[in-house]
Amino acid sequence: MSNKEAVAMTESYPMNGGDGTYSYTSNSTYQRESSLYAKEMIDEAIAKKLDIKSLISNSNTLCIADLGCSVGPNTFIAMQNVLEALEKKCLSQGNGSKVPEFQVFFNDHASNDFNTLFASLPHGRQYFAAGVPGSFYGRLFPESSLHFVYSSTALHWLSKVPEELLDKNSQAWNKGRIFYPSASEEVANAYAAQFTKDMKNFLNARAKEIVAGGMMVVLMPGLSDDIHYSQRSGLLIDFIGSTLMDMVNEGLVREAQVDSFNIPAYCPSPKEISRLVEENGCFSIERMQMMDPRSKMHSPFDAHTFIMHLRAVMEGVFTKHFGSEIVGETFERISKKSAEFSCLLDKSYNERNQVYFVLKHK
Ligand SMILES: C[S@@+](CC[C@H](N)C(=O)[O-])C[C@H]1O[C@@H](n2cnc3c(N)ncnc32)[C@H](O)[C@@H]1O
Repeated sequence: MSNKEAVAMTESYPMNGGDGTYSYTSNSTYQRESSLYAKEMIDEAIAKKLDIKSLISNSNTLCIADLGCSVGPNTFIAMQNVLEALEKKCLSQGNGSKVPEFQVFFNDHASNDFNTLFASLPHGRQYFAAGVPGSFYGRLFPESSLHFVYSSTALHWLSKVPEELLDKNSQAWNKGRIFYPSASEEVANAYAAQFTKDMKNFLNARAKEIVAGGMMVVLMPGLSDDIHYSQRSGLLIDFIGSTLMDMVNEGLVREAQVDSFNIPAYCPSPKEISRLVEENGCFSIERMQMMDPRSKMHSPFDAHTFIMHLRAVMEGVFTKHFGSEIVGETFERISKKSAEFSCLLDKSYNERNQVYFVLKHK
């Protein structure tokens, strides 16, 4: 690793750890069902596009990484799916006598609850497991050491909030708002520019780490090419923003605290991603599409469940800025408004809001 490629400095906001009421483990069914939906696509990508024979011609180990794995069980289910698809491909390519060994790397920020992850690793798993702490916006693995990379619902997290958003003299100062869907064009552009920088770093790092012919499958929140950012639902985030403003009016939170808070996440369109992949030049795009995982979901999609999911994901980022008491109070207030919220939820989430893409290293 050269000096230029030194470990990336990225803000980290881990999901709620452990397995308690507000944990990610107990509140991540929507993400799990999204990746179950992606299973069919992973199976297809591996079956049709991966030349496993040449991948294992020089090594008897296939190395797989899940980037932004959090605490499970979703990552274990996803890794099992990938492993089964790879195994099937080995057998179908006439390598029955030579099914390789599998090494799975679980990556997330160092502040992720790796203890819970390791303690809940599936018994009887048919892979070697290792944790890799650090930001996926920098190098994490040695050169040409990975054969298959997976990332689900993680790459929308930016490495940091765009700096202009915090500058009172900038047109992109996001006063009174905490996200971009309901904000000005300047704010949205600052978010898009930060995503561009981060995604370039992500692709550069993976281009070094993935072997020629290796594959990367990504699933993340996105926005259809034909939809303007302001039409994307930021409904619950708006609810949180307005709840915080109510608390400002009651003197519980300082206005400056809300003005200086922004959620470091961005939902790109397939077009934006394709442009960056093409500029990088090291990968071919094997598939790129928007999907609506909700159409295949079995779990109830109600306001309460949705709020619990959002809390498991967002509590860390809010707590870092406002402190845990304010965050507890904010989510209590939002829960009380859930009847109001659920009327809008059905309508707004009936849209294709996930982007799925498969890249192959040239
Ligand atoms: C919503 S969770 C998704 C977990 C799991 N992949 C799933 O599908 O359920 C997003 C995860 O990405 C991680 N993450 C965000 N930015 C990251 C970065 N730059 N490097 C590594 N992990 C990151 C977060 O810490 C979090 O655990």
